[in-house]
Amino acid sequence: MTVWLNGGVLADEDARLSVRDHGLTVGDGVFETMKVESGVPFALSRHLARLHTSGQRLGLAVPSDDTLRAAVSELLAADGSAGRVRITVTGGDGPPGTERGGAMPTLLLVSGPRVPAAASGSLVTVPWARNERSAIAGAKTTSYAENVVALAHARASGADEALFLDTRGNLCEGTGSNVFFVLDGRLLTPALTTGCLAGVTRGLVIEWSGATEVELPRVALDEASEVLITSSTRDVQPVHSVDGRTYPVDGSVTREAAATFARLSRERLDP
Ligand SMILES: Cc1ncc(COP(=O)(O)O)c(C=O)c1O
Repeated sequence: MTVWLNGGVLADEDARLSVRDHGLTVGDGVFETMKVESGVPFALSRHLARLHTSGQRLGLAVPSDDTLRAAVSELLAADGSAGRVRITVTGGDGPPGTERGGAMPTLLLVSGPRVPAAASGSLVTVPWARNERSAIAGAKTTSYAENVVALAHARASGADEALFLDTRGNLCEGTGSNVFFVLDGRLLTPALTTGCLAGVTRGLVIEWSGATEVELPRVALDEASEVLITSSTRDVQPVHSVDGRTYPVDGSVTREAAATFARLSRERLDP
């Protein structure tokens, strides 16, 4: 793991944050995780754009693209074998309560190896809803405790990832992934109105494979012929089971979407 904190690369033991950092005390922060191939961060421009969008949602001052790009370059120069980079921006040193105060934001980047995704995954629907009307719906914030609880529930149920529905019972997303499924041969994915994150991988699969955004209830998966999930660290991952119902991992639509993503993401490093 290599660390860049508030201006430069630091040894682990020198990387210190305030005990009052608002990201730590109230989850007042935004972040991005992207994969790195041969020293190049994939889709950096899209990740930076989303970081700014998330920051705007929280009213948090995200540093400029020049600052962020320079920090990523310095970090990757120091970690020649990085497989992933996480950028975190928080409210910085703040008052003990919920109000933010006027501190400089904290900018923290961490790189490390990327664990290859399994050939396929399993999902379980969790009993808690994603709130599509939440103040932070669709923002990638450091307030991830709901995802921690949901993922632990999925793991305890023997699944790899949780599946959230929105408050109306529509299919939404996983704790760290977007979901796609095939109905009548068409590739579909929950619309952003369900409160799911506008995943970078999701957006590219929609553009490159022509998926349609829909609002559909959980029962739609009972009719689906294939299911897959996407994320920056998984790319396109087939799903072999949802709530115990099985799906083929080598369905033609999934195979095509995975192959297209693999090919175009190799050709276009910042699509
Ligand atoms: C809640 C959530 N949904 C979806 C995704 C997938 O987004 P991306 O493809 O940008 O990694 C993530 C990524 O971690 C996530 O945290």
